[in-house]
Amino acid sequence: MSYSVIGDLPSRLGERVTVTGWLTGLRSSGKIAFLQLRDGSGFVQGVLVKQEVEPSVFTSVRSLPQESSVKVTGLVREDVRSPSGVELGVEMVEVVSLTSDYPISPKEHGVDFLMDHRHLHLRHRAPWAIMRIRDELARGITDFFSERAFLRFDAPLFMPTAVEGTTNLFEIKLSEDEQAYLSQSGQLYAEAGALAFGKVYTFGPTFRAEKSKTRRHLLEFWMVEPEVAFMEHRENMELQEQLLVYLVKRVVRERGTELALLGRDVSKLEPTMQGDFPRLRYDDALKLLADKGLPLTWGEDLGAPHETALGEAFDRPVIIEAWPAQAKAFYMEPYPDDPTRVKCNDMIAPEGYGEIIGGSQRIHDYDLLVKRLEEHQLPKDAFAWYLDLRKFGSVPHAGFGLGFERTLAWLVGARHLREVIPFPRMLTRLYP
Ligand code: 4AD
Ligand code: MG
Repeated sequence: MSYSVIGDLPSRLGERVTVTGWLTGLRSSGKIAFLQLRDGSGFVQGVLVKQEVEPSVFTSVRSLPQESSVKVTGLVREDVRSPSGVELGVEMVEVVSLTSDYPISPKEHGVDFLMDHRHLHLRHRAPWAIMRIRDELARGITDFFSERAFLRFDAPLFMPTAVEGTTNLFEIKLSEDEQAYLSQSGQLYAEAGALAFGKVYTFGPTFRAEKSKTRRHLLEFWMVEPEVAFMEHRENMELQEQLLVYLVKRVVRERGTELALLGRDVSKLEPTMQGDFPRLRYDDALKLLADKGLPLTWGEDLGAPHETALGEAFDRPVIIEAWPAQAKAFYMEPYPDDPTRVKCNDMIAPEGYGEIIGGSQRIHDYDLLVKRLEEHQLPKDAFAWYLDLRKFGSVPHAGFGLGFERTLAWLVGARHLREVIPFPRMLTRLYP
C-alpha cells in the first residue's frame, strides 16, 4: 500500500489516507483523543473518537508515549483552526515502535540540554522550520547561479596553504613530515575555475579555528563563492545585491509557513527585497561609527560591536567598500590612484547579524601579486599554480564569499548560528 505525506493532506480533503510518522504529543479525555503527528513534511492533528473504533484501539492509543512511530489511517477533514486547514479523522493506528522515556518533553529545556540532544531535537518544530528554510536557501543559491549560466565548481577541502590569514587555520598531519590545512575558503581554486569556465561558484563547507566564542562563529560553516572572469569591483557588488534580493524573495515566497512558525517578522525583510543597498566607503563607515561612540583607528578591521552598529543603522544590507589594504587579504586589487586601499567590500546584514559577505576584485598583475605574497611572507612555491593564473591569459576577475549560516540566521531570526546547521561544530561543542 502507498502512504500519504502530511504536507499533501490539504489537497486531499475527503479522502481516506494512511500516513507514516511519529507521535509528537497526545491529549485525551474519556471519549476523545487528539494525536499530534509529524512525518517530516508537516504536522497534522489526528482525532480519535472512542465510540467510532474498537475499545482496544482507543485504550492502546491513549497511552502511546511521545515519539512512538506509527501508521495512522483516517479521513482527511477540514479544520479551520489548524494552520494547514485539515485534520485526520482517525480510524486505525498501527504502532511501529513503542518509545519510552523520550528525553525532550514538552516542558522548556535549556539550550545546552537541547544541543546535547540535537539528534532528537531536530524532530521538533523550530529546527524543522529552520532546516526547511536552509534547504530552500541552498536550492535558491544553486538556481540563482545556474539561471545565470555559472558552473558549479567544487574546491578541495585539504589545502597546502592558507587563504585568509594564518591565525585560524586547522592543521592536519598527513604523515611524519607532511601537513595540510582544512580549507578556510575555496576562492583560490574558484579563480582557476573562473579562468577555465568564465563563471563558477563553489558551495561547500569551510573551516576556521575561531578562538572567539561568539554567536556568529562556527568552526565548520558553509560558504558560497562565485568567481567571474572579466568582472570588476562594481559589478561584483551588483551581483551580491542581486543574489541577496533573489534569495530573500525566494525564502519569503516559498517558506512563509515556516517563517510564521518561527515567529519571524517578515516585514523586516521587505526593504531588502527592493534592492538599492546603501554603499559606504570604509572611511565613511568609520565616521558613522565614531558618531555612535565606537571610534576605530584607520586600518583596523571592524569588530562585532561595529558590525552590529552598522547593520542596525540601515533597514537592508549595507555594503562597506574600499578598505585599507592592511586590513585585508593579500590577493586584493589596489586602487591605481591610492594603493593604500583595495577594491573590496563587506556586506553587513541588518538587525545585528553581522558580516554576511566578503568579496573583492583580485590582483591580476603577476609582479604585483609576487610582491604581495612576499609582503605577507607567504611561500611563493606553494602559490606557483596561483601565479600561473596571472602568467597565462591573465584577466581582471572578482568574486565573493557568502556565509551560508550567517545569511540563514538573519533570514530566520535565529539568536545563534548553532541553531541553523544540523550539527554545529564549535570549540565548546563536538557532540553529538
Ligand atoms: O570574509 P571572508 O573571510 O571571505 C573569504 O573567505 C573570501 N575568500 C571569500 C571570497 O572572496 N571568495 O568569509 C566570507 C564569509 C563572511 O562574510 C562570513 O559571512 C562567513 O564567511 N564566515 C563565517 N561564518 C560562520 N562562522 C565563521 N567562523 C565564519 N567566518 C566567516
Ligand atoms: Mg570578511
